[in-house]
Amino acid sequence: MNAITIRQLTKTYANGTQALKGVDLNVAAGDFFALLGANGAGKTTLIGILTGLVKKTAGQAKIFDIDLDADHPAAKKMMGVVPQELNFNMFEKVEDIIVAQAGYFGIDRTSALKEAEFLLKKLELWEKRYSPSRMLSGGMKRRLMIVRALINRPKLLILDEPTAGVDVELRHTMWDFLRELNRQGTTILLTTHYLEEVEQMCQNAAIIKNGEIIKNDKVKNLVNLIEQETYVIHAQAVQFLDQLKGYHCRVIDENTFEVELDKKAGLNDLIGQVSALGIKMTDIRPKGNRLEKLFLRILKQ
Ligand SMILES: Nc1ncnc2c1ncn2[C@@H]1O[C@H](COP(=O)(O)OP(=O)(O)O)[C@@H](O)[C@H]1O
Ligand SMILES: [Mg+2]
Repeated sequence: MNAITIRQLTKTYANGTQALKGVDLNVAAGDFFALLGANGAGKTTLIGILTGLVKKTAGQAKIFDIDLDADHPAAKKMMGVVPQELNFNMFEKVEDIIVAQAGYFGIDRTSALKEAEFLLKKLELWEKRYSPSRMLSGGMKRRLMIVRALINRPKLLILDEPTAGVDVELRHTMWDFLRELNRQGTTILLTTHYLEEVEQMCQNAAIIKNGEIIKNDKVKNLVNLIEQETYVIHAQAVQFLDQLKGYHCRVIDENTFEVELDKKAGLNDLIGQVSALGIKMTDIRPKGNRLEKLFLRILKQ
């Protein structure tokens, strides 16, 4: 059984932009699937069509065995969505945002609050339940979006760049949470720029470029196509870098340095060593667009 079945999906926006050019895609039930692509590739458009925010031009999409054209409300009940842009009321309290969402699915306040307690504690937002959402940090707002998406216990969770703007440590907490959710049976579709994230969590991935799927494979086959990656790390202070074992760093400014990494090594050892030096990292990301590099390699083959 597929959680998502997409056939010959096209989208041409009113201004003539062809955002999707005949996409075929299957996501198996139980999969943790990544949709990878540079800015403008068509990821958000594809998700928008599944969730009903964007009207497709042609083609077919099914969520489990429900055709979106036949019964979109039924399909929606099976989905939880975390959109790319924060879209809750900034003046509403965390708890009210979740209860209101539950209301759309016919879940009463008492049941919603019970479920919300579990999710808010799990995503470390419980203390903030009475705060207006605008008082939350960027990472908290992202997690609130996840709690809200899960309140109806969807069989399919769709996340559009969920860790954009989330700091290193919290990103790991989020990965753990999503992995656990997937293990318990929730199918997850994720779009992201971070290949590291895909390697850590996803089983399968498709690469979309200019509205077309150019690769669709097991993650372990895709990541083997890249060997070296440069990361840009932001930190509160940059010091003692010459003490890192096995890495060559380039200092960019007082809060930034770059490290060249063997892809197979992953980030854990580096993060461990940097932390051990007392350097507090505020952000870590691949330099340039590493997906772009992957595209170039794949297209050359
Ligand atoms: N509402 C819109 N009107 C016109 N063009 C759009 C609209 N939304 C997205 N696009 C265009 O469609 C293409 C795909 O965008 P999008 O789906 O947002 O890509 P991604 O999420 O991969 O960055 C881009 O060229 C983008 O500029
Ligand atoms: Mg997008």
